[in-house]
Amino acid sequence: MQNNRFIHLINNQLYKSKYLPIFKRLGSHSVFALIALIVIGGATRVMDAGLACPDWPLCYGSFLPLNHMNLRVFLEWFHRLDAFLVGVLILFKFALSIIWKKEIPNWLPKTYSLLLFLVIVQGSFGALTVINLLDSYTVTGHLLIAFLLLITTISINQNLENNEIEEPLIWWRLLLFVPLLLTLIQSFIGVRLSSTWSAHICLSFNKQCLILNTHKLFAFPITFSILLIIATAIYKRSLLTENWKYLLALIFLLFSQIVLGVLSLKTNLNEPIFIIGHQLNASLFIAILTTLIFRNPFTKKGLNHSLNSQMVGVNS
Ligand code: HEM
Repeated sequence: MQNNRFIHLINNQLYKSKYLPIFKRLGSHSVFALIALIVIGGATRVMDAGLACPDWPLCYGSFLPLNHMNLRVFLEWFHRLDAFLVGVLILFKFALSIIWKKEIPNWLPKTYSLLLFLVIVQGSFGALTVINLLDSYTVTGHLLIAFLLLITTISINQNLENNEIEEPLIWWRLLLFVPLLLTLIQSFIGVRLSSTWSAHICLSFNKQCLILNTHKLFAFPITFSILLIIATAIYKRSLLTENWKYLLALIFLLFSQIVLGVLSLKTNLNEPIFIIGHQLNASLFIAILTTLIFRNPFTKKGLNHSLNSQMVGVNS
C-alpha cells in the first residue's frame, strides 16, 4: 500500500518534468495536422482527385510536379505532403521520448511507438489506395486508421494534461465510449457509401439503396447515446458544470452532422462543400468525444481531493 503511494508520488514528480510542455505542444499541433489531413483527404475524394498523381510516393516522378499542376493534382500532392509532415512529426515525438525517457512517464515512448506503427500502416494504405485504384475497402481502411490516429493522439494529449494520480471515472468513460464506437461504425458505413458510389447510384437510379438507408438509420442510436450522456450529466450536476463546453460542442456537432448529411442528399451530392463539411464535422465529433473520454471529468476539484489523500497516506 505504502509502496503504491510511493510509486504514485514518483509518477507525480515525472509529471512535473520540464519536457512535458514540449510534448503537449507537439501533441496539439498533431491534432490540427491530422484533422487537416482528413479534410484534405475528403476534398481529394470529392474532387475525384484520388488518382490525380498516377505514381507513389512521388507525383509524376517528381517531388513538386509543377508541369502537371492543376486543382486535382494539387489536392492529391498536398494530401501526400501533409501526410509526410504528420509522419515526420510523429517520428520526431517518438525520437524525443526515447532520448528523454528517464525524465518522462514511461507510458509515453510506448504509446508513441503505437502511433508510429499506425502512421506506417496508414502510409501503406495510402499507397494501396493508388495501387488498388481506389478499391472501396482500402479507402475505408485508410479513413478508419486516420480516425484511430486522431483518437490515439488526443488520448495521449489528455493523459499528459491529467495527473496520473487521478482515478478515472470508469462508468462515465464507458458511457462515452458507446457513441465513439457507434460513430466509428457509422463512419465505416459512410465511407463504404461514398467509395462504392452507392449514394449516387441510389439517388439517380433508386438502386443499391441499402447502404444509404442503413447510414441514415444509424444516426438514431448515435443521437440516443448522446442524449443519454447529456441526461446523465444533467442528473449528476457536477459532470455538467465541469464538462458543459464539451457537451454543448457534442450536441452542436451531432446536429450539424445530420444537417450536412441531409443537405448533401438534397443537393444530389453536387455541392462538395457539404460533403467535405460532413467529413470535417465527423472528425471534430470524434475529437470531442475522445477528449471527453480521456480528460479528467473533475479537473481541479478531483486533483485537490487526490493530492490530499496522497498527503494523508504519506504522513501516516
Ligand atoms: C450522425 C452521424 C453521422 C456520421 C458520423 C457520418 C459520417 C460519415 C462519413 C465519415 C462519411 C464518409 C465521408 C466521405 O467519404 O466523404 C459519410 C458519408 C455520407 N453521409 Fe454521413 N454521417 C452521419 C450521418 C448522416 C446522415 C444523417 C446523413 C443523411 C441523412 C448522411 C449522409 C451521408 C452521405 C449521403 C454520404 C456519402 C457522401 C458521398 O457519397 O460522397 N450522414 N458520413
